[in-house]
Amino acid sequence: MLVNLKSVLEKAQKEKYAVGLFNTTDTDMLEAAISAAEELRSPIIIGTAEVLLPYGELKLIAPSIIEAAKRASVPVVVHYDHGLTFERCMEALKLGFSSVMFDGSAGKYAKNIADTAEIVKIAHAFGATVEGEIGHVGEASSMDNDASNMYTKISEAQDYFSATGVDALAVSIGTAHGAYKSKPKLDFTRLSEIHDELPIPLVLHGGTGIPADMIKKAISLGVAKINVNTECQLYFQEATRKYIEEGKDLEGKGFDPRKLLAPGAEAIKATVKEKMELFGSVNKA
Ligand code: 13P
Repeated sequence: MLVNLKSVLEKAQKEKYAVGLFNTTDTDMLEAAISAAEELRSPIIIGTAEVLLPYGELKLIAPSIIEAAKRASVPVVVHYDHGLTFERCMEALKLGFSSVMFDGSAGKYAKNIADTAEIVKIAHAFGATVEGEIGHVGEASSMDNDASNMYTKISEAQDYFSATGVDALAVSIGTAHGAYKSKPKLDFTRLSEIHDELPIPLVLHGGTGIPADMIKKAISLGVAKINVNTECQLYFQEATRKYIEEGKDLEGKGFDPRKLLAPGAEAIKATVKEKMELFGSVNKA
């Protein structure tokens, strides 16, 4: 069933588990992720992001994600991840996404607030929800330098929430997008302070490669949504490479290029299941 973010995250935050967001750019990934959720009776958030649009155009991929969500036997949020422009967020809402993230975190604070407030007003009229970001979650590839100047400031998060009314907030506490070069260091004191001050579910971006104990601690401190993308792609790639190197694509009668996608999709399904176990969302549908 197609639901919005609020309906899955409030329960998750209260019962101290997190719902995973997994980005998909085609129907093989989509079906792999949803079947993992159905088998484990877990809610799931299926996303696509503005930076992923070159791999799957919004107008083409939206109908399949929305249809898959509607017929799923578990709650599925269809979320536009890291919307970078007002126009694209509007397009996602008109196409039927039940949730959008507006990420104005790389721009000016005042503009981020003004744009987010406007998007929240419109999204709520659609029955959809909005995730915002304060502070800025960067890329793991450029994490050599101390990134703490980009961390979420508690006073800004409070102001941002009261000015915009977002339904969930992505926080910057030391995670980053992509594969970490070394073990991440997370600012749990800051996370705990943000959680004490804000009544909404918190979101951790850059879910790839965060050790299990840190994930559990983040959930205990108010994180109710964790985004994972790179890890799914890495295991997809590894499984496909192995399949070809072992010559399995040439087995049987004739060559069928569609067979090439099956091992990758299975790898994504296994990764999604593993994350659901770790995030504690199994049997919470
Ligand atoms: P990773 O690619 O590091 O898993 O991060 C995903 C993410 O935060 C998408 O918004």
